Amino acid sequence: MQKPIFKALFSATLAILIYSHPVLAPNAQAQSSDSIPARLATDYIHSVILASREFYSNQIVGRLSKAISLKASENWEEEKTLPLPAQFLKLSAKHSNDLGIGLKIRLVSLTPINTKNLPRTDLETLGLRNLKEGSNKPFTWIVKRGGRWSFQAVYPDMATSKSCVNCHNAHPKSPKTDFKLGDILGGILINVPLGNVPLAEKGISSDNEVFQVPPAIVSDYVHAVLESDRYVYSKYVVKRMQSEKIVESKENWEDENALPLPAQYLLNTSLLARKSKSGLNFRLISLWPINFNNSAANEFERNSLVSVAVNPLRPYMGKLKRGRKTYFQAVYPDFAVSESCVECHNNHPKSPKRDFQMDDMMGGMVVSFPLRN
Ligand code: HEC
Ligand code: HEC
Repeated sequence: MQKPIFKALFSATLAILIYSHPVLAPNAQAQSSDSIPARLATDYIHSVILASREFYSNQIVGRLSKAISLKASENWEEEKTLPLPAQFLKLSAKHSNDLGIGLKIRLVSLTPINTKNLPRTDLETLGLRNLKEGSNKPFTWIVKRGGRWSFQAVYPDMATSKSCVNCHNAHPKSPKTDFKLGDILGGILINVPLGNVPLAEKGISSDNEVFQVPPAIVSDYVHAVLESDRYVYSKYVVKRMQSEKIVESKENWEDENALPLPAQYLLNTSLLARKSKSGLNFRLISLWPINFNNSAANEFERNSLVSVAVNPLRPYMGKLKRGRKTYFQAVYPDFAVSESCVECHNNHPKSPKRDFQMDDMMGGMVVSFPLRN
């Protein structure tokens, strides 16, 4: 478990050394007063996964199947269709799992269509068995693997629409054919590494408060999920659909029966995630925004954009007071990773900057959530 702690200390120190910005005290992120409960961390991650899935299911798959008969299907690659929501989730999870930052996300079930989605440990099986119908509560536990302690939470994945039930019951590989609306079809398993685990707490515990994760690491995880969704959406939905000439991504996607731009996918995910009222927020900002609402909202955000432009290796992090609450906030640089970013922004009538080049920093992704004190 040394790596994430080291990373947190490193980034806190970096923020001080490089930016001489007084928002973070040295070692601030190693102090438990600043850390947040691991259960809250997995709640944040879960709320992003759910929001993205809801937006993808309703506004991409649902809307386009009605508007232009574009379907989602299991063999989406051969059939030139959209990946199923479960497949989108798995592609995104694979991308974030492969970053090697300790975050692991999996879709699991005791009665899966794909046997790769079976639980891999007794605790995962126990977790799935203990999920209660009609409750969104996860089952949580800690495990030690390779000398490292991790916190794991499995959240119920319920049949929220008839289509879940119909497709799973009728699927030739489904071992269960009598799912009903509202049933638990499986779970979303989220694994986050922990720092020190008090000796007395080893084993299964229902009191999650004792397990903590530094906020810098939590925001890295949230950012990783968002970036992975954006990557999967851009690569497997937008690019494929455009190159097959099936449907384009357009700013006025709702009126034109098109795909939203990746920036709009993120914005809409953010609006949906706010419904969970967890206090987690994320958005794209820029010093040269196409949409004025994406301007830096305060001194901190302006400073952050200037800083990540100079030093893009680590996000700009700090604490902010808003009302009586203290928030942790991190800004990650957002680069022109493809010619299309440059082309579209330079030519957009509302863009205040027209000389972006490949690899330029175009803006930043802000992630913020409340700290308890
Ligand atoms: C059109 C068919 C279809 C629909 C609709 C569908 N699924 Fe699935 N689902 C699948 C397939 C196929 C897999 C296996 C994907 C893979 O290869 O991992 C799957 C996988 C899953 C899994 C992982 C366990 C398993 O069965 O392999 C869960 C959990 C799940 N779906 C939940 C849902 C929920 C909840 C809904 C509705 C919101 C839903 N599914 C809608 C076809 C569907
Ligand atoms: C087809 C046009 C198009 C492409 C391609 C595109 N963008 Fe954008 N981008 C937009 C529009 C339009 C907005 C404003 C969305 C909104 O209303 O919030 C935007 C918003 C943004 C923002 C928030 C600040 C702002 O300008 O409002 C950032 C940062 C950003 N894009 C970065 C990128 C990056 C990085 C890429 C490539 C990976 C990219 N964009 C690709 C059109 C595009």
